[in-house]
Amino acid sequence: MDKVYIFDTTLRDGEQSPGASMAIEQKLEVAKLLANIGVDIIEAGFPISSPKQFEGVKRIAESVEGPTIAGLARTLEKDITTCYEAIKPAAKKRIHTFIATSDIHMTHKLKKSRDEVLKLATEAVALAKSMVEDVEFSAEDATRSKWEFLRDVYTAAIDAGATTINIPDTVGYTVPDEYAELVKYLLKNVPGIENVIISVHCHNDLGLATANTLRALITGARQAEVSVNGIGERAGNASFEEVVMSLKTRKDIFNLNSDIKTEYIHHLSKIIVNFTGIPVQPNKAIVGENAFAHEAGIHQDGIIKHRMTYEIMTPQSIGRQKSLLVLGRHSGKHGLKERLNELGYVLKDESFKKIYERFLELADKKKGIFDEDLHALVEEELKILPQIFSLVYFSVMTGNKLIPTATVKLKKKSKVYQEAATGDGPVDAVYQAIEKITDTPIKLISYAINAVTHGKDAMGGVTISVERNNKIYRGYGVATDVIEASAHALLNAINRILYNSMEIE
Ligand code: KIV
Ligand code: ZN
Repeated sequence: MDKVYIFDTTLRDGEQSPGASMAIEQKLEVAKLLANIGVDIIEAGFPISSPKQFEGVKRIAESVEGPTIAGLARTLEKDITTCYEAIKPAAKKRIHTFIATSDIHMTHKLKKSRDEVLKLATEAVALAKSMVEDVEFSAEDATRSKWEFLRDVYTAAIDAGATTINIPDTVGYTVPDEYAELVKYLLKNVPGIENVIISVHCHNDLGLATANTLRALITGARQAEVSVNGIGERAGNASFEEVVMSLKTRKDIFNLNSDIKTEYIHHLSKIIVNFTGIPVQPNKAIVGENAFAHEAGIHQDGIIKHRMTYEIMTPQSIGRQKSLLVLGRHSGKHGLKERLNELGYVLKDESFKKIYERFLELADKKKGIFDEDLHALVEEELKILPQIFSLVYFSVMTGNKLIPTATVKLKKKSKVYQEAATGDGPVDAVYQAIEKITDTPIKLISYAINAVTHGKDAMGGVTISVERNNKIYRGYGVATDVIEASAHALLNAINRILYNSMEIE
């Protein structure tokens, strides 16, 4: 089976996404993860473009072992020498030089003739070759360039010493069959092409970046330029995880291998979201939140009976724990029972029947049913969690010029306790008062609010997790008033702490 070289450009083209810039320490961390996951080439940045870019590439070259470290350079002497200085410390280094070859770019952007572009490309590759053995040449906007001119430019680049020739679909314009035809044309017409690696670099303007990349690989390209989560200029680049998992999942079609340890993909994706602040859409292939989530009852039933009825790869193969059966109004009894079992509840038929009825009522009101809801349903039904403290009354005074102050009354057995407290906001003030009465200080770890029903009078559901004595406890509360829902959520968590038998780590 042939190997596909994975050239990751998350730190270069990916970082060119609006607002995606990363700190140098973060880039270093990403580069180490890329090395660990088995990437062959890391394009660490564009050294001439700023001192920070230079520093980032240099630091990666100094400390990341394993992959080849590449830097980007235009066909200018200063770009190439600066790139070389940045990548110099790497054990394996590559200069990636590029110039546009389409008429539209040459006329309007570069204001250069074909001959001038050809000369610049040749000289740049030769200069890079005098510094490093490994030189990549890209004809920017290749897919909108005249094929005969591309043939001439790539021929000259190979003659001058390029070891990889890249065919960028810079503006995401091509379609799979056309791209394949271009690769075939170059394979047939560029002398010496059999001695170099053909690389593909696809942008996603028409949503075809992964498809184009894969089609070119089938046709003979052996390097895929990709970015994690598909981030990059405009609509982004071909996505690392989509290309790699397609090769792995459809080996029967591609008969190609990559060295990627796919079980680290999920973690890598999360880190990129974290560092760049660019979220992944929930239905994104492979790494989206819902990529392994099933809601329809028929699907859940199928998954429970045999996972491969609705999943073509395992969540574990990309490092996720397990498929998620999202409970909602489409879930059947089977799905609910399975989830309750996973949560540790083995229920008698009678209890399950009642919980199922309550579950259906809740599913009509709420978009998705989460574990907290199920805990609450079971606790209520089985009277597992006694109401040690319950809310009798609360009032809050708040405003933009007032210190939020809450008065809370709680009942324990038949006795009513009252406290007042101030806080950073109305919820905090109520929480301070509750903590005083129950004598149970906690650290709030997370607080999430969502509308349980629709409209202006929607019920608000508050889910919190709190820490006490190094243990995490969850709480859930519902009310039309979000402060009241917050109070119920904290009381739910505190009752759990006090009862201390439903702890979860
Ligand atoms: O999209 C593009 O053409 C590029 C080149 C620099 C390879 O990113
Ligand atoms: Zn690009």
